[in-house]
Amino acid sequence: MDLILTPHVKTPNGFTLDFYTKQGGYEALRQALAMTPDAVVDIVKASGLRGRGGAGFPTGMKWQFVDKKSPKPKYLCCNADESEPGTFKDHMLMERNPHLLFEGCLIACHAIGAKVAYIYIRGEFFHVQEVLEAELAKARAAGFIGRNILGTGFDCEIYVHRGAGAYEAGEETALIESLEGKRAQPRLKPPFPAVAGLYGCPTAVNNVETLCNVPPIITNGPEWFSALGPEKNGGPKLYCLSGHVKNPGTYEAPMHVTMRELIYDPQYGGGIRGDRKLKAVIPGGSSVPILLPHQLDIPASFDGVASAGSLLGSAGIIVMDETTCMVWAAENLLYFYKHESCGKCTPCREGGAWLHNLLGRIERGEGQMKDIDLLLSVANNIMGKTLCAFGDAAATPVLTTVQLFREEYEAHVRLGRCTLSADWRAASRTLAAH
Ligand SMILES: Cc1cc2nc3c(=O)[nH]c(=O)nc-3n(C[C@H](O)[C@H](O)[C@H](O)COP(=O)(O)O)c2cc1C
Repeated sequence: MDLILTPHVKTPNGFTLDFYTKQGGYEALRQALAMTPDAVVDIVKASGLRGRGGAGFPTGMKWQFVDKKSPKPKYLCCNADESEPGTFKDHMLMERNPHLLFEGCLIACHAIGAKVAYIYIRGEFFHVQEVLEAELAKARAAGFIGRNILGTGFDCEIYVHRGAGAYEAGEETALIESLEGKRAQPRLKPPFPAVAGLYGCPTAVNNVETLCNVPPIITNGPEWFSALGPEKNGGPKLYCLSGHVKNPGTYEAPMHVTMRELIYDPQYGGGIRGDRKLKAVIPGGSSVPILLPHQLDIPASFDGVASAGSLLGSAGIIVMDETTCMVWAAENLLYFYKHESCGKCTPCREGGAWLHNLLGRIERGEGQMKDIDLLLSVANNIMGKTLCAFGDAAATPVLTTVQLFREEYEAHVRLGRCTLSADWRAASRTLAAH
């Protein structure tokens, strides 16, 4: 498959307005503005585009839910928070193909009746902000953004808003709170953002990669898009490969590609560093259940990964070889979730710290057998009991590692130490050189 989202990411000036327009950029916007908003929504619905932010929700349907009859202003929020461990695709799209994102935002705004889009980027993305703002200014000067876009009477402004670097700010309602100037904490749903979002107005929240798929859908048609992948999993997909692979990085592929190909094929991960044995794979950012080596012959699609009992999530594929201690891996992840909990819901705020403490105790060889069941009990008391999916995300690394590697937990307790040799422990914490 020809690359659709990332063909020019390595071209030195591939991110500039001049380069983008020479490749036919902003022609999809021209086409979309000649259509009614409903016609644009229908095309995106027909394409079967599913959100790339984690849940895989159909984008056209989300846009249709935006209450266009409401007298209030409508808003588009582009979710560019990208804080899920192991995920770094949106960063690349924004830095190397910013006009594709702007074009996607403008078409989405036309479709939902919005005149303003906010691109909410993660606090650490200083350089991305510089690129986006410099290119936005050029697009504005060229008449693609602002008043009377392309002489059609359509007005639309795009603003870049940099957050303060909180994982929770990527949850759509917490993102909205943060944009309103408050702490990034989730809201109770319903009402969903499509009804009462930013400033209480109808709002669509979409991931960067999702929006970048919109211009090629308008240009090439919905059938072209859906035919690129397996049924209900159409279009190109960006995968972030990290951990113990030979070639970590971001790769574009259709969702026919299998998990095994992504990890072993020389055009992608190229296999396990040092040709060691593979132990475990987290396929969708750190918040989803682990896949074992025998489960990798599945399409790396939303439905393919779900059929194996996990989730494609953000497509952040974290690869762990035989040198990895799974108790340590879970402890490491829980350090992240403990630190990032926004503190609004008690099970997540308190439970994350409990899980981290218990895991540390077992990893140091100071645990007792009953701690393993205590871990499961605490994790199950977080799962499904919080306002947003952060709680499930924090509980999952514990539940999945205890379920699949319980004997490793038990050995830590029995032997009073980590079961791996010091050499292997050091190796597991060293990543392949980029
Ligand atoms: C704790 C948490 C963090 C999230 N972080 C992100 C993020 O960084 N980027 C993102 O696009 N979606 C993130 N999401 C998912 C969003 O809530 C939302 O589903 C997504 O922006 C919808 O866009 P899409 O329909 O285009 O996928 C997060 C969800 C949770 C619960």
